[in-house]
Parts: sequence; structure tokens; C-alpha cells
Amino acid sequence: MPKINIAIDGPAGSGKTTIGKILAERINYHFIDSGLFYRYFAKNCWDNNLNYKEKEKVVEFCFQQTQDIIQDPTSFFQLLEKQRITLNQPEIGKLASHFATILELREMIYQIVRKIVISKGFVVGGRDITFKVLPKAEVKVFLTADLVIRAQRRYQQLKITSEGKIKLAEVEAELIERDQRDRNNILAAEKSSLRVDTSNFSLAESVEKIYNLYLKKINN
Ligand code: DC
Repeated sequence: MPKINIAIDGPAGSGKTTIGKILAERINYHFIDSGLFYRYFAKNCWDNNLNYKEKEKVVEFCFQQTQDIIQDPTSFFQLLEKQRITLNQPEIGKLASHFATILELREMIYQIVRKIVISKGFVVGGRDITFKVLPKAEVKVFLTADLVIRAQRRYQQLKITSEGKIKLAEVEAELIERDQRDRNNILAAEKSSLRVDTSNFSLAESVEKIYNLYLKKINN
């Protein structure tokens, strides 16, 4: 059966990563969480005393790393896996959303993603995958849910890793801030793909919905 690529965009907490991973496993594809790439570069810059306002230094610092990643994506994925818990901390998400405003850094991440998915068989989650990174992906979904529901889902996830230190109201406030910063990408993604609102769907139903889009595509 020929393989395709599936792009899933959506706001923070929409379930892209959870749903994307389950879907990828079900159809024997690989899942790429592009948000993790932004988080990785943001943290790496920060650890090396680079602020997102020092754009030129950030770009120079990330350039060679990008070349190395393109040469050897497997080692990069192993590194991401090792750092996953740290990278998923809310502070790193916030930092990533600032670094993500650097267009040159975005271009580097686009290059990495495009290089990796060239062989097809990938589910890629992000903010601008459907209209910017992989506009020719065979299935393009804009996944969303009401703010309150997204906040609750994110809170449940973070409660485990933050050992109960996090508050629901803080998570909601953070999402509002992130939505605002990601606004342009969110609007463009919504226009260029099929909107799937998971507010009233269970996890299984959400996966099923995208799985059906995948089936429809490959049987066409
Ligand atoms: O999906 P996430 O929360 O891990 O993303 C972290 C930040 O990275 C998000 O606020 C915006 C940025 N991002 C982006 O601009 N484009 C993507 N494709 C993925 C993430």
C-alpha cells in the first residue's frame, strides 16, 4: 500500500500529539511532533545564554546544529526522546513560542521536517504544517477544541509531571497567551485544512475521525 503524509495542526492543548501518536502507531507510520523541535532549539539557546531577542546570534547558533540534524536525524530523535520530559515543561513551551517568532529559525525547522518526511509514512503535528511546511501532505487536518476543554486536558497531563504543583487557572491563562502568539498560524491552518473539533469527542473518537480521512485518501 502506498504511504502518504498526514499533517495535523492545531492550537496548544488540542490533542495533536496524543492523537497523532496513536494514529501513527495504528497505521504503522512515524509521528513527528514539530513543537518539540521548537522546544529543543529554544532550550538549547537558553542554556547557552542566548535570548530570543538576539536574533542573529540565535540563527548562527542554530545553523550548524540544523546541518548536523539533517545529516543524522536518528541521533536527533534519540536526543529528543531523552529530553522529552524537560522539553514538555510549560516554561519551555512558553520560551519556544518566543523563539518561534524568528523566521530564520522556522525555516531551519521546515528544512529538517521536509527532509525527514520525504520517504512518506509520517504523521506530523504542529502549527503550520498544513499550509507552510507540507502544503502537499495528502491529509491535512486542523484539530481544535474549546479553550476550557483544552485547558482541562493539558492540566491532566501536566498534573502528573509537575507533581501537583500546577493549577488549572494557570494552564488556561497560559493557553490564552499562547493562542494569541500563535494566532496567525492558527488562522491560516484553519483555512487550509479540514477542521475537526474534538470538544465533544473521546480520544478514541478523535483518532477514528482522522483514521477515516486517511482510509478515504489511500482507497481513492
Ligand atoms: O505544540 P507545542 O506546544 O509543543 O509548541 C511549542 C511552541 O512552538 C508553540 O507555542 C509555537 C511553536 N510552534 C510553531 O510555531 N510551529 C510549529 N509547527 C510547532 C510549534
